[in-house]
Amino acid sequence: ASANAAAPGSDKIVAPVRRLGVIGAGQMGIGIAQVAAQVAKIPVTVMDVSMPRLQQQLAFVDSLLAKNVAKGKMQESERKDIVSRFTLTTDIKDFASADFVVEAVSEKTDLKLDLFRQLSEVTSKDTILASNTSSISITKIASVTKNPENVIGVHFMNPVPVMKLVEIISGLQTSPETLQRSLALATAMGKTTATSQDVPGFIANRLLMPFINEAVFALQDGLGTREDIDATCRLGFSHPMGPLTLADFIGLDTCLAIMQILHSQLGDSKYRPANLLVKYVEAGWLGKKSGRGFYKY
Ligand code: CAA
Repeated sequence: ASANAAAPGSDKIVAPVRRLGVIGAGQMGIGIAQVAAQVAKIPVTVMDVSMPRLQQQLAFVDSLLAKNVAKGKMQESERKDIVSRFTLTTDIKDFASADFVVEAVSEKTDLKLDLFRQLSEVTSKDTILASNTSSISITKIASVTKNPENVIGVHFMNPVPVMKLVEIISGLQTSPETLQRSLALATAMGKTTATSQDVPGFIANRLLMPFINEAVFALQDGLGTREDIDATCRLGFSHPMGPLTLADFIGLDTCLAIMQILHSQLGDSKYRPANLLVKYVEAGWLGKKSGRGFYKY
């Protein structure tokens, strides 16, 4: 399988991933599972707390595949093969057969640490445990596991099937083998990698979130309307989406959580979250997923 690929910049062939586990069937988790099943052609076990939600998310993947079939980009048999590579579960013990697990639950440190403790118990000593965190320390996550050398950050971008980049983050304890296998998996999934130091926000969110936060300050300070701010970036800088639309798309709670991490850990007031962002999250206006953010959906 293509999962045998060597990592970029290395001619060393690493052991292929035979089964990928994904924890969390939100927009990131299900996208990661889809790309693994579709591009790398690896069987995937996806876990979440609710079976109906898992089924709903798999139906969403199937609807994307059906669109590809309708457009003549994919054969019907391929669509069936991709769906047949999915196993859905609510039991973390089902990761016993996975040799690479990606955690993609919401950006809450305690939740992630708890899941990594459990994962460390139910998986084998060679299983790589990766986090899709966008801002939490990989070194800290690794510290709660039995084999911290197997823990790494693999940060996909949303929407996972479309965005080409995966950020790879080694913690202090991460072994070179874990890094090589993670780079090879990302390559097999058709992605290009950028490696980042294990610093708050890594590279992607160190750049993106202050930009989004500044757009919220611009709105709060009345520099222009939401449409003016978004159009400036979309048409002035050729960004595919304006920053307020992008914030709605990512989730305002996620944007706020990342700004709070940048602010508390880097200690510079330039990272303080805009008050309007805090208020929207307090109101439950979380963006596209809640039906209202800077725009209504
Ligand atoms: N899942 C799968 N495929 C999707 C998708 C989704 N959720 N959304 C769109 N697509 C696909 C469409 O099916 C379409 O595919 P085809 O070309 O094969 O038909 C293609 O993407 C383009 O979609 P649309 O024509 O509907 O819309 P668009 O051209 O406006 O593109 C977009 C949509 C790709 C989302 C584009 O607006 C974009 O690139 N936006 C910026 C996204 C971005 O910046 N992401 C990074 C966020 S930051 C992050 O993820 C990290 C973090 O830690 C917060």
